[in-house]
Amino acid sequence: MPKIAIMGHGVVGSGTAEVFFKNKPGIEKRAGKSLDIKYILDVRDPSEFAGLPYGDRFVNDFDIILNDPEIAVAAELIGGIEPAFTFAEKLLTAGKSVVTSNKELVAKKGAYLLKLARDNNVNFFFEASVGGGIPIIRPLSLCFSAGRINEVAGILNGTTNFILTKMFRDGMEFADALKLAQDNGYAERDPSDDVGGADACRKICILASMAFGKQVDPDRVPFEGITGVTKADIDFCTARGGAVKLIGIARRNQSGGVDAEVCPAFVGGGSQLAGVDDVFNAILVRGEETGDVVFYGKGAGKYPTASAVISDILNALKTPDNPHALCWEESEGSDYGGLVSGFYARTANGAFITGEMTRAEFNAKYGGDGVITAMRVFDNL
Ligand code: HSE
Repeated sequence: MPKIAIMGHGVVGSGTAEVFFKNKPGIEKRAGKSLDIKYILDVRDPSEFAGLPYGDRFVNDFDIILNDPEIAVAAELIGGIEPAFTFAEKLLTAGKSVVTSNKELVAKKGAYLLKLARDNNVNFFFEASVGGGIPIIRPLSLCFSAGRINEVAGILNGTTNFILTKMFRDGMEFADALKLAQDNGYAERDPSDDVGGADACRKICILASMAFGKQVDPDRVPFEGITGVTKADIDFCTARGGAVKLIGIARRNQSGGVDAEVCPAFVGGGSQLAGVDDVFNAILVRGEETGDVVFYGKGAGKYPTASAVISDILNALKTPDNPHALCWEESEGSDYGGLVSGFYARTANGAFITGEMTRAEFNAKYGGDGVITAMRVFDNL
């Protein structure tokens, strides 16, 4: 019987263990074999978990997992780059599949870990890293393989979408809405990555890397969060039938490269993204052959994310000798800053919307004009 290890017993790790043991008979039926979680790795003293029905599985020492030949797959649910990267690297090298919800790890080290998995004939899966419970990674990899994807865009952070919705639909203060998001398990431990846009940036980089086949480096993609968005901006946009959303976008450009950005944006009322509220995420994939395809669902939270982790575990166990071809290549690095759109700008004298231009062109033309808020305008998403 192949055995599973869970690494990290935080929000997602504890959800994964809970859902696994609650739904074990159905999960085993789908896997076609008996399964068990043999170890749960956590830095805390194992005695702290003695009251849990699976409290006897807790260990502190990663090497127990690495050196146990029964472990076929490990779920890395620790977050951050280290020790997650070293653990993943050692496990893949040892011939064990790894699944992860860790966006930072996948966005920064994805090309390397995917190659390592291929070289060792195992899997590296990360469905839970983008969109929580929304199936997007596997569909993007498998279901668009006939053609060419030109653009991926979406609402990729549940916390900020929840906060924007609570602030501007229910009149909540930013801090109260953030606290509510944290209480619901949506926000990262350090919420500055959510509200500052870094979390959404990692996710659009993963989607862009998948869609375009080359690593899109999150350190090179411009990003901005929602802390500068004011009620005046929202009122302007809603009066015009649209909404303010934190948008991650990556688009092929005419020189064969990719433009990408994360920014608060005015999306028109006709957009499929304008009505996506609360913790929901939506991802628009614009394919040459398919036209627009939209994926929608809960983008954060303990159980939606745990569901994606467990489905990856099952897929990793089903394909041990024939790794599924999720892949993208390393990239030399590129400048992703050429995205063209209209801009909304607010000054002390009122607000206006510009024609299509890059951010550099906007700054050159209007930067000295007392602009208080500037946001992109997307009227074709
Ligand atoms: N903090 C993230 C979010 C969790 O709010 O979307 C899911 O990646």
